Amino acid sequence: MSWPTWLPLRADLQALSAYGAPQVPAQAVLNTNENPYPPSLALQNAITDAIQKVTSNLNRYPDRDADVLRTRLARYINEGSGTDLQIKNIWAANGSNEIIQSIFLAFGAGVTLGFTPSYSMHPLIAKVTGTTWVDGARNSDLTFNLEVATSEVRAHKPALTFITTPNNPTGDAISLGDISQLADVVAECGGLLIVDEAYAEFSQEISAATLLADRPHVIVIRTMSKAFAFAGARLGYLVANEYVVDAMLLVRLPYHLSSLTQAAAEVALDYRRELLAGVSSLVTAREQLADSLHELGLRTIPSSANFLLFTGFNGSAPQLWAQLLEKGVLIRDVGLSGYLRVTIGNEADNQRFIDALKDLL
Ligand SMILES: Cc1ncc(COP(=O)(O)O)c(C=O)c1O
Repeated sequence: MSWPTWLPLRADLQALSAYGAPQVPAQAVLNTNENPYPPSLALQNAITDAIQKVTSNLNRYPDRDADVLRTRLARYINEGSGTDLQIKNIWAANGSNEIIQSIFLAFGAGVTLGFTPSYSMHPLIAKVTGTTWVDGARNSDLTFNLEVATSEVRAHKPALTFITTPNNPTGDAISLGDISQLADVVAECGGLLIVDEAYAEFSQEISAATLLADRPHVIVIRTMSKAFAFAGARLGYLVANEYVVDAMLLVRLPYHLSSLTQAAAEVALDYRRELLAGVSSLVTAREQLADSLHELGLRTIPSSANFLLFTGFNGSAPQLWAQLLEKGVLIRDVGLSGYLRVTIGNEADNQRFIDALKDLL
């Protein structure tokens, strides 16, 4: 993008490109790792009722610290992880992207290290907030390598080290043992370890939230956008030591989380069993889709998330991506040569994707 000379855009932003997963119409939308299951009618009605109650008070600012919601999010994490977290350990915002931004605003001095390919917004938000980003390496098959990671932490002594588990776009998960070893090295080097667990509910691994009691320098990021099928409502949160949460209060904008969002997210937590019931069917569908891709002669990285990264096709990734779109199937070209990523959809979406691939390969 070339900018007009009269626009005093910061020099360090001029070469960047905006996040831009294409939002184009398609019969099967399998590109942003959304959950394919829409809210049930009962949940829609419950959210409408809750919002109706809030609307009579819209002349007032929302609860600035989202106390009820944060207490309930702590309970949700405790239920799944056997932890004893409290409201003081949770911060909530408009999607985990806002959480990531707040982490950079509070702690992004010096260097941030991440092991790429991983979630593209980590380096982008680092750069936008003026933090130097360093790309750490992964194995040649794109999976996480603890030895490489620890030596890169020792070499760069980053203020922030990011890991994503399960990782986007590869889908591989990091064991709790590896995370705790990395956390110890990060602590020796005086930094914070950020564990982005956006897809945690799809994985069998134990959450890094269980490390917080002994390791105050670990921050876990979670979201309701994926397993909770709540991407449109925009609710992400972090689980961390109380001093981290105190630092979030310094950088947050006052009243950042609207009363409408807070009310809707509380209802979604009431319906968590119903919402999370979709997770196991998506995991089964993921394994079936991987088998179908293998039958077509393609290779996948074993995934613990709601998407698959696949390779082994002839021609370029942008070319196959465009041909699939012509057939009504929107997947994601994540910019990795020879690879494409597909989100697990409902049965009809997945079938349409496989049928389109069969025609094209
Ligand atoms: C690893 C990871 N973290 C964070 C996010 C952001 O999610 P949200 O802002 O919807 O909570 C995504 C979205 O795809 C993601 O893949």
